[in-house]
Amino acid sequence: MPTLQTSLGTVAFDDNGKGKAVCLVHGFPLDRRVWAPVAERLGDEARVINVDLPGFGEAKPAKPCQIDSLAGALHEVLSELSALPVVLAGLSMGGYVALAYAAAFGDSLAGLALVDTRAAADDHEKRVGRDRMIQLVQREGTEAITNAMFDDMLAHPHDNTPAVHDLRNIMNHCPPHTIERALRAMKLREDRTDLLPTLDLPAVVIVGEHDRITPVDEAERMSAALPHGKLKVIPDAGHMAPLEQPDAVAEALRTLLV
Ligand code: MLT
Repeated sequence: MPTLQTSLGTVAFDDNGKGKAVCLVHGFPLDRRVWAPVAERLGDEARVINVDLPGFGEAKPAKPCQIDSLAGALHEVLSELSALPVVLAGLSMGGYVALAYAAAFGDSLAGLALVDTRAAADDHEKRVGRDRMIQLVQREGTEAITNAMFDDMLAHPHDNTPAVHDLRNIMNHCPPHTIERALRAMKLREDRTDLLPTLDLPAVVIVGEHDRITPVDEAERMSAALPHGKLKVIPDAGHMAPLEQPDAVAEALRTLLV
């Protein structure tokens, strides 16, 4: 598995296929394995770069980060790989990173997919929730975070399916210090609502019909605000649509790869 050193730490990635470049960015507290089923499906049609952000997955522990500095690290990697312009697809926290990337490096984007995510910043209540999660991970470690979040991540969290097992493994793999840093970064991220109407590029907003963390009405607002935004609601999926319904998510991404 290749890695590159960035100003924020290591980024690990898979880089497979040929054609238009698409970069997949995972959510929290996750890694590139959540995108792997979609990456497989797009492998014959595009150059698919699936990353572990610094501190996540197989990337080494990172320096303290902000969502903006994660976007900067991603830009360093994509430049180094000569993968620009790129179609950027961000899942949840990866969507926050993708929007920060669009704000700073919009000229290097060929398309944007916002998946189970939101443009708005955390409100007061969500920030208080982040602080509680930081205390929880400091006190009890990663599995406590998995247990606190798990039921809201999937449409069917209690089924005996590969998505349920894979997600639990991925979440339990995330180091406590990465969880803490990411929670602080998400808590302090900028509101990107006003950015959306300025993004003059092909865009798709993808959301699981049962997403309880970033629900369909949020996605509808984002796609309406984007000048070229299309909305794709994924049936029988929750907040982890790429893991739950990879065929439908790959299909939606293909609209940006033509
Ligand atoms: C994620 O899936 O990345 C998180 O749910 C995002 C968040 O907590 O805001």
